Amino acid sequence: GLAGVAPHELLFLLDEAEQWVELNRQPQKRADRLAGLTIINAFFENSTRTLLSFEIAGKRLGADVVNMHAAQSSVKKGETLIDTAMTINAMRADAIVIRHGSSGAVRLIADKVDCPVLNAGDGQHEHPTQGLLDALTIRTAFRNRIGSDFNGLVVTICGDILHSRVARSNIHCLTTLGAEVRVCAPPALMPVGIEQMKVTPYHDFDKALAGADVVMMLRLQQERMEGSFIPSPREYRHLYGLTLERLAKAKPDALVMHPGPMNRGVEIDSNVADLADRSMITRQVEMGVAMRMACLEVLTRKARGVEGWS
Ligand code: CP
Repeated sequence: GLAGVAPHELLFLLDEAEQWVELNRQPQKRADRLAGLTIINAFFENSTRTLLSFEIAGKRLGADVVNMHAAQSSVKKGETLIDTAMTINAMRADAIVIRHGSSGAVRLIADKVDCPVLNAGDGQHEHPTQGLLDALTIRTAFRNRIGSDFNGLVVTICGDILHSRVARSNIHCLTTLGAEVRVCAPPALMPVGIEQMKVTPYHDFDKALAGADVVMMLRLQQERMEGSFIPSPREYRHLYGLTLERLAKAKPDALVMHPGPMNRGVEIDSNVADLADRSMITRQVEMGVAMRMACLEVLTRKARGVEGWS
């Protein structure tokens, strides 16, 4: 995860990703830095953006990329997570990318295998490449206003903070880089003690929006709620949905972000999600490919005998 990662390490990864943003905008998008390496994407939870972008990232760097979808694997026959990891390890993967529904599952696997393991989202814990790609999106958009760090930027994250690994990784990343981070959620979806993460909690969305440079919306993760608190979509939109009217309470040029998948008409209205200049949602996807290329390239340096990351 991004907890405890130093500012210079975060900035190094953002800088590394920029070359891949440039490459990805060319007609020919190939670099062969990872030629001959095998990357296995093992996804135990559904994904569109993260899985596709890790696959594209590995392929653009010249690696052989194999995807394992848990729903079609021997996990369905009762094989344990550790046995699955040992099996992948025996195939001599050079990097493993894992998404899993349990917080800490990625760490467990990382301790058992011989190659770098990248966290593609583990339970409610962290989604580090999402935090990094969001930081890259913000830095790219505000390049003329901020220096190398994010001092002076106000980022409001609104939604199901309690269950959100995206929120946690963004909080770690953005506060480390110097941004002011506000989190906004209904009381039942706000983690107890969140202030300890150097953020300011709000239950009133209008107040959380005042003076914000970036508004990051999150969906309700009903699959993690187990029936405890599921507000009606209408009620939720009324209090916490980002409408055009509400967005006007943030700074006039405030940017809109959403990691996806979006529930249009619930946490975000379509006319906000599709705002031509201010919605960064497709830009986030673009930055996701570049950031995952950077992470794969940097984390395989040791195995390739290249210096620059320990
Ligand atoms: N943002 C994100 O993680 O999306 P996916 O679940 O589609 O990968």
